[in-house]
Amino acid sequence: MAYLDAIAPGSSVSIEPATWRDLNDLRHLEKVCFPKDAWPLLDLIGLLTWPNLIRLKAVNAGVMIGFVACDLRPADNLAWIATIGVLPEHRRRGIGRALLLAVEQQLTLPRVRLNVRVSNQAAIHLYLELGYQRAGVWSGYYQDGEDALVMEKQL
Ligand SMILES: CC(C)(COP(=O)(O)OP(=O)(O)OC[C@H]1O[C@@H](n2cnc3c(N)ncnc32)[C@H](O)[C@@H]1OP(=O)(O)O)[C@@H](O)C(=O)NCCC(=O)NCCS
Repeated sequence: MAYLDAIAPGSSVSIEPATWRDLNDLRHLEKVCFPKDAWPLLDLIGLLTWPNLIRLKAVNAGVMIGFVACDLRPADNLAWIATIGVLPEHRRRGIGRALLLAVEQQLTLPRVRLNVRVSNQAAIHLYLELGYQRAGVWSGYYQDGEDALVMEKQL
């Protein structure tokens, strides 16, 4: 798979569909990756079970080390990255990039969007590198009042 080229050579990481069986791993990953914005348990259950979502996990030695979920919105002619995270000890090895590319490969909609804290330089760098462009700002979007940058990529 071409998106696996993004991952550091020699690594044994795979990208696989995630299911409700991954709930505990996902709860852990969300808490670690989003100390301020972790999704509540019910939303995480929805994320793993709702229709019209692509959900993929990065797995290393049988353990989930990364996750991405993408909401398909055909009525709006776009898809929306709902969440993406990689455990800190596995970052900067191309896993976030591989997860995003793997989702994009499955999309048949013409555009994909996401929102990100304006201070989240790591994520913004990743999105810019993959061809996402700034599409707007939602003022005070996050609970602590921080603005969200909206980014979009034409597929
Ligand atoms: C954002 C996140 C998913 C990136 O995951 P990752 O696996 O470390 O990303 P990758 O290794 O695939 O990085 C790909 C590119 O993104 C950019 N990037 C990633 N982390 C970066 C950082 N800390 N600083 C600057 N650029 C960064 C770089 O261009 C990098 O390429 P390079 O390593 O060849 O320079 C990860 O940092 C994370 O989980 N953060 C916490 C959760 C989060 O903020 N999610 C996004 C919410 S919108």
